[in-house]
Amino acid sequence: MRKQIAAANWKMNKTFQDGKELLETIVNGIGNLSSDQQVIFAVPFPYLMESNKSINNKPNVFISAQNCHHKTAGAFTGEVSVDMLDSIGIKYCVVGHSERREYFHESNAELAEKVNLCLSKSITPIFCCGEPLNIREEGIQNSFVEKQLNDSLFHLDAEAVQKVVIAYEPIWAIGTGKTATSDQAQEMHAHLRTVLAQKFGKQVADHVSILYGGSVKGANAKEIFSQPDVDGGLVGGASLISAEFLQIISALK
Ligand code: PGA
Repeated sequence: MRKQIAAANWKMNKTFQDGKELLETIVNGIGNLSSDQQVIFAVPFPYLMESNKSINNKPNVFISAQNCHHKTAGAFTGEVSVDMLDSIGIKYCVVGHSERREYFHESNAELAEKVNLCLSKSITPIFCCGEPLNIREEGIQNSFVEKQLNDSLFHLDAEAVQKVVIAYEPIWAIGTGKTATSDQAQEMHAHLRTVLAQKFGKQVADHVSILYGGSVKGANAKEIFSQPDVDGGLVGGASLISAEFLQIISALK
């Protein structure tokens, strides 16, 4: 079975002390994960090293960066490179979150470079895609999201693309309390898997984990994750509350 993943995206929340407490409470509360299940915490840059230490090599639990720069090194004040993440043992990085695309104008082409750099260092990109409300209202969300994949992932070969985790996050559902219905999530996930199969073959498509993101909570996780093409979630707000995130973890297939 492909990996089933509960990924927390803390965004720009929590002081170091509060984050440490949250992480410890959740990690201590995680029951036995099966070999196909993973829990990932995308924490702010300054907390990466300490967070990695505090999870103490717990099986199937990982720390992720929330972003990286699309160039290898150089005069980019304030940015963090993939080499830097690799040098402190980070194995995951969120790439192309809609907030990065919108507020920091990250383009599909830059995101392709980030994906390449991550893969060159064996860092798994958690590649985010998803449509804004007006695109959904026009009914053209499938082609919109397909283009995001096409422009940032489809230059990869079959072996490389299998190493990417995709997170489908409809922008209208992020932080709004408006979750996509489990049918809407399944419909898009199935579409993305079909597109992956057309490009890379069914075996590859079946191997890629596709997470849903957008107002996932303890109360709705089970229904969303039970959809056949939904392989867990990328969770913002509810990942900041230990009881909520633990419930989400226990909803993994
Ligand atoms: P949300 O955020 O769970 O608060 O909607 C999800 C995300 O942006 O990854």
